[in-house]
Amino acid sequence: MDKDYIQIMAVYCMFVMALIVRNHAVVVDIKTKGAKGDGITDDSPAILSAWKEVCGGPPPSSLVIPPGTYMSLAIMLAGPCKGPIEINAKGATLKAPPELVKFSKDSWIYIRNVDKLTMIGGTFDGQGQQTWMGTKCDETMACPVPVNLRLSNLKNLVLKDLTSINSKNFHLALRGSDNSRLENLVINAPGNSINTDGIHIAKLNGLNITNSKIGTGDDCISFGEGSRNIHIERVSCGPGHGFSIGSLGKFPNEEPVEGIFLKNCTITGTTNGVRIKTWPNSYPGIVRDIHFEDIIMNGAQNPVLIDQEYCPNKACKKGAPSKVKLTNVSFKRIRGTSATKVAVKLVCSAQVPCENVEVADIHLTFNGGPATSECSNAKPKVVGQNVPGVC
Ligand SMILES: *[C@@H]1O[C@H](CO)[C@@H](O)[C@H](O)[C@H]1NC(C)=O
Ligand SMILES: *[C@@H]1O[C@H](CO)[C@@H](O)[C@H](O)[C@H]1NC(C)=O
Ligand SMILES: *[C@@H]1O[C@H](CO)[C@@H](O)[C@H](O)[C@H]1NC(C)=O
Repeated sequence: MDKDYIQIMAVYCMFVMALIVRNHAVVVDIKTKGAKGDGITDDSPAILSAWKEVCGGPPPSSLVIPPGTYMSLAIMLAGPCKGPIEINAKGATLKAPPELVKFSKDSWIYIRNVDKLTMIGGTFDGQGQQTWMGTKCDETMACPVPVNLRLSNLKNLVLKDLTSINSKNFHLALRGSDNSRLENLVINAPGNSINTDGIHIAKLNGLNITNSKIGTGDDCISFGEGSRNIHIERVSCGPGHGFSIGSLGKFPNEEPVEGIFLKNCTITGTTNGVRIKTWPNSYPGIVRDIHFEDIIMNGAQNPVLIDQEYCPNKACKKGAPSKVKLTNVSFKRIRGTSATKVAVKLVCSAQVPCENVEVADIHLTFNGGPATSECSNAKPKVVGQNVPGVC
């Protein structure tokens, strides 16, 4: 055989082999990194070691947490990675240590700076019971209270079939994770747990949350500054404080909240239904293009609420009005039962009154009889048949 030909073939074979190696996805099972999965041993070193390999390996890579119960201290899984990553935790339960003193930062599982992360399955148990009862650590604020899953700057994130329970603080906190999708989530903490918001969103453009079930001691979903273009569909909420935009206006230069669409949701036994809250005597801010449609209320207190005098624990000067401007807000086809006599309450700012608020086809009853409505500094456009009649 011709020598040149052999050489060409050898180079070609090496090239093909290199391609095969490149395309061979890395799959790392945390058990191969020493995870015990006995629910007692700290398995965080194994998770971190698996992450390092998966994140640095040729894409697409996946980290597998096989069925079992694992205990993990606080961990940070940081990118950027070489490509898309999947975390598969189907059938697995991760438990946080119950003691707050074991945390020095405000996150339990913190994932950041990854493009195209997909997380499937798993139960994340924050074991927050002691923390809500108030520990010494909590009173002195000597140690911060961790959120179960802090998900920052994860563009194109997909989370599905995942469960978060009994977080010490918020369950999921998303920030800067644009173009993301959350499906089939279950989030659960008792109604009397403290600060356990289901999903807190801030500074994020593009997020869909569908087919999920949230029950907590605080807001089911809260939309902080810079929440933009968010679609929520078929999510049930309760117990908890409902779906809340804000509170806003407490700090200078907050980014607008705009383009929130909440549809086909059910709200049961909550202290509020759908609400927008801003502080009185506030900094200027913008809330616009907010639409609530086809919502079923089962005994929610304050089912429809704009509260621009939000002032819990009397921690503010109520005299001066809010400077957060609300424009293009609609409440359509909101039906069911209210647990308070005033079912629709639109309290807008005297300084920057709400503009273009629409109320359409609301049907809310209180104790089998009529509920009432209240408005100030708002002249809602009222469409269709409304019970109670709106202002
Ligand atoms: C989110 O939902 C909207 C409206 O249904 C849709 O247009 C958009 O493509 C969805 N985005 C993602 C990331 O799923
Ligand atoms: C959404 O709600 C409307 C009104 O209740 C109903 O007609 C429609 O079937 C619902 N859609 C889904 C997908 O649940
Ligand atoms: C409110 O909606 C109208 C009509 O859709 C639009 O022209 C206007 O720019 C919107 N205003 C704000 C502040 O988003």
